Amino acid sequence: MSAINEIFEGNDAWVKATLERDPHFFDQLSKGQTPEYLWIGCSDSRVPASEITNMLPGSIFVQRNIANQVNNTDINLLSVVYYAVKYLRVKHILVVGHYGCGGVLGAMSNNKFGFLDNWLTNIKNIYHAHRKELDAIEDEHERGNRLVELNVAEQVSNLSKISFIQEEWEAGNNLSIHGLVYSLSNGKLVDLGVSRDSNEDVPAIFQFA
Ligand code: CO
Repeated sequence: MSAINEIFEGNDAWVKATLERDPHFFDQLSKGQTPEYLWIGCSDSRVPASEITNMLPGSIFVQRNIANQVNNTDINLLSVVYYAVKYLRVKHILVVGHYGCGGVLGAMSNNKFGFLDNWLTNIKNIYHAHRKELDAIEDEHERGNRLVELNVAEQVSNLSKISFIQEEWEAGNNLSIHGLVYSLSNGKLVDLGVSRDSNEDVPAIFQFA
């Protein structure tokens, strides 16, 4: 018996249930994808994009990494965003953080995580920029939650600084970026109200002519 048997058993059960619900499901989806959403989320196993939004395969293009970072030297992420925006023509980019994020909490500590310390530096930079607000929050749990929110807002801002995203806005194309947070304790997604759909709020030095 394969050590990963549950993966195949689960797949068999899923194929059966899917075909019962819609006999043409795979015929349709194998023709192509037209997702309206790009999801940039955390790799955390508890925050699967389609499942927590009750969406079917074909609805959400996905990029996940530790603590949902948008880093302008990450060729993987930039390629996913480029393809989603320029070819799939998604209408919405969702940056989705989650409370209790191990990456964010790790960055908030002074512990060493080996190679990961490099990745977490980006989050430490956010902490440092907001240290007055964060240091004033006595409850560590609350402070972590606030850093999760600030991290999401920062990644939304990072997306708005990308030249090919500004190009879409310049061309009058429908593209908005949203910052959301997911709660592991109740399963709810909340909109942080930091959406962007133009370069209006992009600081001048980051605006491309
Ligand atoms: Co996380």
